[in-house]
Amino acid sequence: MTWDAELTRRLAQRHADNLFRRRITLTGAQGPRITTDEGSYLSFCSNDYLGLASDPRVIRALQEAANQYGVGAGASHLVTGHQRIHELLEQALAEFVGAPRALLFSTGYMANLGIANALLGRGDLLIEDRLNHASLIDAGLLCRAELRRYTHADVDAVRRLLASSKAVRKLILTDAVFSMDGDLAPVADLVAVAGDYDARIVLDDAHGLGVLGVGGRGSLEHHSVSIAPPVILMGTLGKALGTFGAFVAGDEALIETLIQEARTYIYTTAPPPAVAAATCEALRIVREEPWRRERLRHLVQHFRRGAGELGLPLADSDTPIQPIIIGEPQQALAVSRGLKKTGVLVTAIRPPTVPPHTSRLRVTFSAGHSEQDVDRLLDALSGHMNSAH
Ligand SMILES: Cc1ncc(COP(=O)(O)O)c(C=O)c1O
Repeated sequence: MTWDAELTRRLAQRHADNLFRRRITLTGAQGPRITTDEGSYLSFCSNDYLGLASDPRVIRALQEAANQYGVGAGASHLVTGHQRIHELLEQALAEFVGAPRALLFSTGYMANLGIANALLGRGDLLIEDRLNHASLIDAGLLCRAELRRYTHADVDAVRRLLASSKAVRKLILTDAVFSMDGDLAPVADLVAVAGDYDARIVLDDAHGLGVLGVGGRGSLEHHSVSIAPPVILMGTLGKALGTFGAFVAGDEALIETLIQEARTYIYTTAPPPAVAAATCEALRIVREEPWRRERLRHLVQHFRRGAGELGLPLADSDTPIQPIIIGEPQQALAVSRGLKKTGVLVTAIRPPTVPPHTSRLRVTFSAGHSEQDVDRLLDALSGHMNSAH
C-alpha cells in the first residue's frame, strides 16, 4: 500500500469509528459567547475559567508591552530571548505559589516533558496515574525511565510500586485536577507517600491554579500542602490565567537543573515578552478579584443541583470541569450536535483522550457565565440527552 493510500485508509477508519476530529474556527475572542464561521454560540468548553482571556486590562497590558518589547522574543532564554518581564513574571509566580523559584516554559506540554527529561533517565522509575493528561504520559515515554501506571487515585498502588522498586530516582507524576473528569488527586496522601520513599512528586495543576484555594493558589492551597521537597509544581497560564505558557515552581536546585538540562526549555524560542506582561496583569486580577472564584463555585453548584433534578449522570467533581459521561462516541456526538442546533456548544470528548466507552460532554464553566446561561444549558441538555440512547 502506498503512503497516501495508507493515510487515506486510516482517516476513513476514523470516520467509520466516529473518532474523526474537526476544528471549530472562531472568528472572535474566547469567552462564554463565541462566534464561529457557522454562527454564534453559548459556549461551555473553554478552560478560560476566570474569564480573563479577553479581559480589557489583560489586553491592554499585552498591547503596551508589545510597544516596548516588540512581538517575538527572537531567541531562546539561554541566548538573548530572556527579557526582564520574563524575570518579573517568574518572581511573581514563585511568590504567588509560595516557592523559592519558578521557571517559565512555552507550554505546559513542554514543561512536563522538560521535567521528566531533566530529572530522569534509564534505570529510574516514573509512576503515573492512569488518567493523567497526555503530556504527562508522553513525558514518561520520552525520558527512558521505567514507566508504571496505577489505577486512578490509588495511593496504595503507588506505595507498592515505590516499595518494590530498586531505582535510585523515583518520580510520581499526576494531574492535581484531572482534566477530563474534574476530580482531585489525593494530593496530601501522595505527597506523604513520596516523602516516605524518598521519591519526588510532580503535581500538574493546569486546572487548579487560579481556581482552587481561597487565594486561587491552586491545589496545594486547597489541600494545605506546602511547596517544598518532595513537591514539584507545574502550572499552566493558558487556562485560568487566560494567557499562554506554563511554569515549574520548586526549590533552587530543581529550577537551576531545569535551566541547565531540560531540553524543552533550552532548545526553543522564549515566549513573547508581551504575553509575559499580560500574564503579570492576569495574576494581579487572580489575586485581587476573588469574586471570580466565588462566582464559579456558585455556578457549579447551580449546575449540579439542576442536573441532579433532571437525572443527568453527574461526575464526582466540584470543580468547573463537569463531565457528563455518555458512553460511545456516536452517542456523545449526537448529543453535542443536538445542543449545537439550539445554540449551545459543548464538545464531545472521545477516545483516546478518554478511555473507551466513556465518551463524554466535557462541560466547563467560566466566571463570565451567568446563572441564566447555566439554566439555558440545563434546558438544552434536558431536551437532548435522550438522543444519546
Ligand atoms: C493537565 C494538563 N496538563 C498539561 C496541559 C498542557 O498545557 P498547555 O496547553 O500549556 O500545553 C494540559 C492542557 O492543555 C492539561 O490539561
